[in-house]
Amino acid sequence: MNILVIGSGGREHTICWALSKSPKVDKIYCLPGNGGISEIAECVPISVMDFDSIVEFVDSHKDIELTVVAPDDPLAGGLVDRLNEKGHRAFGPKANAAIIEASKAFSKYLMKKYGIPTANYEEFNDYENAKDYVSKAKYPLVVKADGLALGKGVIICNNVDEGLKAVKEMMIDSKFKDAGKTVIVEEFMSGQEVSILSFCDGKTIVPMVNARDHKRAYDNDEGLNTGGMGTFSPSAIYTPEIEKEVMNNIILPTLDAMNREGRTFKGVLYFGLMLTSDGVKVVEYNARFGDPETQVVLPRLKTDLADIFNAVVDGTLDKLNIEWSDEACVCVVMASGGYPENYEKGKAITIGDLDKDILLFHAGTKLQDGKLVTSGGRVLGVTALGKDINVAREKAYANVEKISFDGAFYRKDIGIKK
Ligand code: AMP
Ligand code: GLY
Repeated sequence: MNILVIGSGGREHTICWALSKSPKVDKIYCLPGNGGISEIAECVPISVMDFDSIVEFVDSHKDIELTVVAPDDPLAGGLVDRLNEKGHRAFGPKANAAIIEASKAFSKYLMKKYGIPTANYEEFNDYENAKDYVSKAKYPLVVKADGLALGKGVIICNNVDEGLKAVKEMMIDSKFKDAGKTVIVEEFMSGQEVSILSFCDGKTIVPMVNARDHKRAYDNDEGLNTGGMGTFSPSAIYTPEIEKEVMNNIILPTLDAMNREGRTFKGVLYFGLMLTSDGVKVVEYNARFGDPETQVVLPRLKTDLADIFNAVVDGTLDKLNIEWSDEACVCVVMASGGYPENYEKGKAITIGDLDKDILLFHAGTKLQDGKLVTSGGRVLGVTALGKDINVAREKAYANVEKISFDGAFYRKDIGIKK
């Protein structure tokens, strides 16, 4: 079969790579793709939010049997709905289910209504009320923009001044545009974070192996929040007891809650979890594969990813046995100097003689006159499998050193924490 993947980052490169291993997949298109993806897929230069052109492209390519929508914006905007309306098969939630990520006010309402453990919160649409609340609240607390804000709409505030500044930036200065018109102010939680991605066909939900992300820019979790500077899988802190608690208290209740709300979820449902002293709580839901979690999860998948995508779309996930390798996986992100703030693009990338089994997932790269150059903040995800995390980490870092571009930086401590 031929498959179209929507998106252009390291996550999409990993999805294309996993699909390219399937004997059932003949051809992969990726829209718009990137420099690395172009080696395994035909890249289509259309923006992920240009729904008319995307639908037209799928209409005119009768060979495409499935479209996989990977990023949050087109999911929230209803690209799956648009494709379905034209009779095309698509992997990903419809807009009415993708709202579990696209509106934090909705996800908090859902968790409160169905007793799914999360931080206590208040929702505000009115600036004066929000101001009044944060003036009198206990600190630290967390102010969140309701809508999608590229992972930047969460501000941890340590005192009243910071709380007031955060609500003003979101509600008055429109720092996150409409995403910040409504804000959530929630209790600060402390604990270790784990990401659980799951396949869900609306009736059956199958968690993938766990992964841990490193959101801050620099070693020891210092610096600004980023889209993710590296990941590893599995984490030893996610014990079988915790896994059971999460399945019973969070994963199954969420599936049930979405169905009861008439928002059946089909696709990848991502649980951002915090292991607190008071049990596991949900930090956030995503309606898609995580990035860069996907880079360490899919290399451990033994089952054919095309079979899983088809089973999710057809509602037959209960018939599939999804298997994982016992190997560990580590992904180190190489980023452009200055990321996550201002950085330059167009730097030539030199890649030395990498070990044969290294997986080099491209995020912000493009081919310019046949040469690979940087085109984003996160540039490459250097990924290695190994018999345990230490082996995988050493292999990943040994190969990071063989890659260079002007201004490149990366964290040196990915996979050190448990
Ligand atoms: P989110 O976009 O909701 O995943 O938030 C981004 C990051 O902010 C999370 O991965 C956490 O590290 C942090 N965060 C979000 N909510 C809370 C909270 N209630 N308490 C502590 N940290 C939080
Ligand atoms: N790595 C976190 C995310 O994909 O949102």
